[in-house]
Amino acid sequence: MAKFITFLGKFLIFLIAVQLCPAAAYNVVSYGARGDGKTDSTAALLRTWRAACNSATPASVSIPQGTFLVRSISFTGPCRNRIHFEISGTIVAPDNYNVIGNSEFWILFYRVSRLTVIGGTIDAKGSNLWSCRRGRYNSCPFGARSISFQSCSNILVYGLKSFNSQRVHIGINQSSNINLQNLRITAPSGSPNTDGIHIESSRGVTITSSTIRTGDDCISVGPGAMNIWMEHIGCGPGHGISVGSLGNSYNEQGVQNVTVTNSVFTKTQNGVRVKSWARPGGGYAKNLVFRNLFMRNVGNPIIIDQEYCPDNQCPHQSSGVKVSQVTYRNIKGTSSTQAAITFRCSSTNPCSGIKLQDIRLTYINTLRSPTLAYCQNAQVSRSGSVFPRSC
Ligand SMILES: *[C@@H]1O[C@H](CO)[C@@H](O)[C@H](O)[C@H]1NC(C)=O
Ligand SMILES: *[C@@H]1O[C@H](CO)[C@@H](O)[C@H](O)[C@H]1NC(C)=O
Repeated sequence: MAKFITFLGKFLIFLIAVQLCPAAAYNVVSYGARGDGKTDSTAALLRTWRAACNSATPASVSIPQGTFLVRSISFTGPCRNRIHFEISGTIVAPDNYNVIGNSEFWILFYRVSRLTVIGGTIDAKGSNLWSCRRGRYNSCPFGARSISFQSCSNILVYGLKSFNSQRVHIGINQSSNINLQNLRITAPSGSPNTDGIHIESSRGVTITSSTIRTGDDCISVGPGAMNIWMEHIGCGPGHGISVGSLGNSYNEQGVQNVTVTNSVFTKTQNGVRVKSWARPGGGYAKNLVFRNLFMRNVGNPIIIDQEYCPDNQCPHQSSGVKVSQVTYRNIKGTSSTQAAITFRCSSTNPCSGIKLQDIRLTYINTLRSPTLAYCQNAQVSRSGSVFPRSC
């Protein structure tokens, strides 16, 4: 009983302390934002951010219900305290794609740490830019990423929905300890370059419990990425989850320690892919683990492609990227092509330490024709039951 009373006393003191030191609240509407879908709220959001970022106590920014029109905006740090950024409403880009299309980003967090972004919807309205690209490619703007984290650390993004990016939906560059959870990323299957999440030059990125449907890679892990964890991802439509593309520049950083687990791929062009351009260079991809994956009608469920050539304008040399220590374990389901497993490795840097364990991938079209495994310059070992078994 005495113990309980002591506990109660401590709890009351805790409650009083919380009351005395609440997070300072910054509502964008108080700073002039209008949730009418028409008023440009960019300047108001910037004013709100500056106030929150200067707060002497932890700050809470809120974007309430409503539709807030925002042009390219950078939320720049470092900030004095941690920031909780809560989005209840929707942030939309202008209808005219040129307004954000020549900037690399639409919403940028730069040099921010200890930030939590909760909920909300963002819609970059990329469809007119996609049409432009399909038509007269040269005169269209390059396109903006919807959300970028550049030089950030200790970030949690939870429950965000992102629609119709002009380019990548979420970009992570030169950052560390980034947690993305319960995201929903959506763009039509034919939309060009609408990757879900692109990571590069970053370490400690975890993506969990997220659904990604796009016209390009659901997630791409580029040069300089390390300690990347992806779990409970629903991917598709899209091009699958990729390490790469690598080997685009000569002095490129490598990729290491990447795990994809407990995930499902539905009607994607690829499942788990490693891709590098066929040109000399010094990059690498090592310690990759792909396990407990289910493939539903997937084009190339397991593929390493070191002759990556998306548009027929390719170097046709031998890739300098070294791929090693790649484990595939417990991968089941159906392939929409006969080539369920493809290891097209570099002749000058053969793939080494490729392990296949408990694989069962069947061909969706005709149950009678078996799937095939295709290997080139790859050192592959098998354990458990592996089907297709060739190579
Ligand atoms: C990542 O950051 C570096 C340094 O600022 C920059 O040169 C590079 O273009 C960025 N990459 C992307 C994909 O934004
Ligand atoms: C690999 O990355 C995971 C996080 O994704 C981390 O927990 C683990 O410690 C890393 N392993 C090594 C050997 O660095």
